[in-house]
Amino acid sequence: MSSDNQKRAAAEAALEFVQPGEVLGVGTGSTANHFIDMLGERFAGRVPACVSSSHASTERLRGLGFRVVDLAEVDSYSIYVDGADEFDSALAMIKGGGGALTSEKIVSSLADQFICIVDASKRVEVLGEFPLPVEIIGMAERGVSRVLRELGGEPVRREDFVTDHGNPILDVRGFRIHDPVILEGEIEAIPGVVTCGLFARRPADVVLMGTDQSVQRFGV
Ligand code: A5P
Repeated sequence: MSSDNQKRAAAEAALEFVQPGEVLGVGTGSTANHFIDMLGERFAGRVPACVSSSHASTERLRGLGFRVVDLAEVDSYSIYVDGADEFDSALAMIKGGGGALTSEKIVSSLADQFICIVDASKRVEVLGEFPLPVEIIGMAERGVSRVLRELGGEPVRREDFVTDHGNPILDVRGFRIHDPVILEGEIEAIPGVVTCGLFARRPADVVLMGTDQSVQRFGV
């Protein structure tokens, strides 16, 4: 099975968690896109509103007839469904390969449950093989890069890219992240950092991982 089919299988499994009649938090990326498309097929007219983590997902949801509301209009919701670039045994994740990490962290924080949908390549023993995205305020690039190097990383500015919030991203290679909770706090404390792509202080509650044979479930 291709990784895209594994992503589709994981996305399909997440539909079981969708409660008709409830607002839904929706993530960003190729796996989230499968989820959105299946939501359109199976839940049209049964989800009163969605909260989205990117302009791209908002557009896709609206194209399928879903109402997408501003985060200011809702207090909380039961589930947030999104992909990840890596996850570990504690269900901590690296996210932000698609650049939507800041809105993803904000939108997921209001959900009771973070349902993470991934293909089998995303499971790792130690986070950090995937370059860690860090969204920054542009003027802080030199200072933030210096501290990231002191922490053991090798930051490189993502070329020809700004986030939905108009900011650059540094992709940081070289980390072997044994304590992602600590590192997330250290990086987010650097002046000029908007968001670090580690989702460890608030990990996933459930990971649905598509494999060639089935969908493996973690956290349930
Ligand atoms: C978007 O910014 C990311 O956090 C994605 O969730 C992550 O990169 C996974 O993307 P895919 O589902 O495309 O692999």
